Amino acid sequence: MTARQQPKNLWIGRWGFVLAATGSAVGLGNIWKFPYMTGEYGGGAFVLVYLACILCIGIPAMMTEIAFGRRGRGSPIDAVKRVAQESGRGKIWSGFGWMSMLAGFMILSFYVVVAGWSLAYLWKAISGGLQGGSVDDMAAIFGANNANPLTLGAWSTLVTVVTMFIVGKGVQEGIERNMRWMMPGMVLLLLVMIVYAMFSGGFGEAVTFLFSFEVGKLSSEGLLAAMGHAFFTLSLSAGAIMAYGAYLPDNKSIARTTFTVAICDTLIALMAGLAIFPAIFANGMDPASGPGLIFMSLPLAFQQMPLGSVLQVIFFVMLSVAALTSAVSMIEATVAWLTERKGMSRKAAAWSSGIVLWLLSTLAMLSFNLGADWTFAGKNFFDWLDYLTSRWMMPLGGLGLCLMAGFLLRDEIFRDELRLSKRQHALWLLMVRYVSPLGIVLIFIDALGVMSIDIGSQWPWFLAVLVVIAVLGEMLSPRVKRQFTG
Ligand code: TRP
Repeated sequence: MTARQQPKNLWIGRWGFVLAATGSAVGLGNIWKFPYMTGEYGGGAFVLVYLACILCIGIPAMMTEIAFGRRGRGSPIDAVKRVAQESGRGKIWSGFGWMSMLAGFMILSFYVVVAGWSLAYLWKAISGGLQGGSVDDMAAIFGANNANPLTLGAWSTLVTVVTMFIVGKGVQEGIERNMRWMMPGMVLLLLVMIVYAMFSGGFGEAVTFLFSFEVGKLSSEGLLAAMGHAFFTLSLSAGAIMAYGAYLPDNKSIARTTFTVAICDTLIALMAGLAIFPAIFANGMDPASGPGLIFMSLPLAFQQMPLGSVLQVIFFVMLSVAALTSAVSMIEATVAWLTERKGMSRKAAAWSSGIVLWLLSTLAMLSFNLGADWTFAGKNFFDWLDYLTSRWMMPLGGLGLCLMAGFLLRDEIFRDELRLSKRQHALWLLMVRYVSPLGIVLIFIDALGVMSIDIGSQWPWFLAVLVVIAVLGEMLSPRVKRQFTG
């Protein structure tokens, strides 16, 4: 198989891809969303289901995405197109590449707003603006933070500018070089927080909360949320991992790098839980306080702790760095496409996509103040971006890529790229053909609300459906024969 494209850019360092992909994966999803989801969906039970989703859905899907990227050696649009063409399929399949790129762009346009909150809070933490005696006071601070479009917009603009600056400098000089200090720095800050938490009460409770498994607490809502989050937290189906995969040297093992990234991502999410929940428990607060957890409960908890004001600064630096390393990955697909296809320089590509991004993110930012009632079907612009990407575009893109890899494209391509043993390859196929697609379809059914899913009681049915589809699929798929005949 020598149909491979010649790479233009490659990660230089041994850890280049792993650092960049972990930087992409570890973000607000780990530090902001995972802890509050765990809080809402019942602790250990949710954690366990989440781990299963990462293993069975996230990891195979990530391997697939990297394989597409490395084989096609280009932006997601070109990568998917080339891999499809190599299998004798038409250009139309690059539609999934388009959707990924668009999803990444749309996610970034509301992600910079949340990253802007993080910077704003860092500033408040430094300047002593996070004082208050109750959760209500904290809610008032959060409200005031969002009410002024000029300051809120300034913070998200700052995030956009820094992101474009890093991306504009190029893959090695901008992204790889900055990840080399940002990632270790972030982990170090997280460790400082955990060590502090170990000695300041509430740690035992946090450990019990995160790791004790009670079947009764497992809800199907939690399961669906865990599946969706597995995609989000690994940055899947939004072009980011595929774009980074295009720079992965040929001699690296896709399976090994995927496992490393997924394990780092999961460990950091759990560590974030261990850093955050002790403070919550030590101050007798509710772990299930939703999206406001780190912006309202946590600052309040820190106030009541010795050295809390220092810790707070550490926390928001860490959060901002995590958000920035993810933001960089979301725009890479677009920038790669503009440089490859429109002949732009990296800088021109970064700044011109930055301008479009800025306009979209400004609309998203306005959803919290002036545009709060510019709603359509009950959702404001910010909510629409979130809803369309996480409920539709990402699952659809994931489904498309998995099914393409599983059924449509030549298996040799994936054997060539993934280089798994026979048995491992069969397992990967089982996951991308049936397990991930069924999971994704369940997310869709839930999003459409056409039927209520209660996995707790209906799971034998789902298992039966899975087995029937898998048996039929294997019988009908002509490729199966080829697999056994070698
Ligand atoms: N994974 C990141 C997080 O957990 C978010 C993210 C970065 C992302 N790049 C992405 C999500 C691409 C979807 C697609 O915060």
